[in-house]
Amino acid sequence: MRRKLAAGNWKMNGLRANLTEVTALTTAHSAPGVDILLCPPATLLAPMAAAAEGTALAVGGQDCHAAAAGAHTGDVSASMLADAGASYVILGHSERRADHGEQNEDICAKAKAALAAGLTCVICVGESEAERDAAQTLDIIGEQLSGSIPDDLTAETLVVAYEPIWAIGTGRTPTLEQIGEVHDFIRARLQSRFGEATGAATRILYGGSVKPGNAAEIFAVPNVDGALVGGASLKATDFSAIISALEAAPQQG
Ligand code: PGA
Repeated sequence: MRRKLAAGNWKMNGLRANLTEVTALTTAHSAPGVDILLCPPATLLAPMAAAAEGTALAVGGQDCHAAAAGAHTGDVSASMLADAGASYVILGHSERRADHGEQNEDICAKAKAALAAGLTCVICVGESEAERDAAQTLDIIGEQLSGSIPDDLTAETLVVAYEPIWAIGTGRTPTLEQIGEVHDFIRARLQSRFGEATGAATRILYGGSVKPGNAAEIFAVPNVDGALVGGASLKATDFSAIISALEAAPQQG
């Protein structure tokens, strides 16, 4: 049985004043029926972890360096994230792939570092609009899965997030059939690579313009085990509505 996961990605948003959203969220969901995760900017990790202490909210980083430590000005290592209170890290988000030229092999190296630091990896995959129009979606996602996920991840230490690039921050979402097709494909790939049991137990999130208004229908799609939410995770009221929709959704797996 896969435990559902509602994950929020604050991206480069949030100051200490915004931690009131965390208090509102943990008060509204003191005993949630799903896992809840927020990934703030690195500057807010420690204060958010402090605000979340004793609650069901987990916190995570948005990226880490592949090296354990060293001369890498401006970067943050996986053990630093863990030390600040993170238990997860998002890796290979399309904004990192686009803004920082991250390749599948870079993401794989970061995932190994995250695993060594005891973090669970949320590894993002997704096609561009041009790739979808050219019917390359499954090929691209297959390559991203093979290249970005190291062999030693397990159902406990890996979460896959399917995020079509053209749906991120745009208000556009794929059809439910398109989401289902990709999630089924990811499930099959995980099972053939990691074995039936591990592949069946690994959570697969959908991300890209998830909102309170569309969450329930997306969560009813088979093999959708939750969401990675950007904009709508910034406000506790919106994210709370998405968490409630996930709690009410049919059990997957
Ligand atoms: P969005 O972002 O919900 O604002 O579309 C999703 C993401 O990038 O994780």
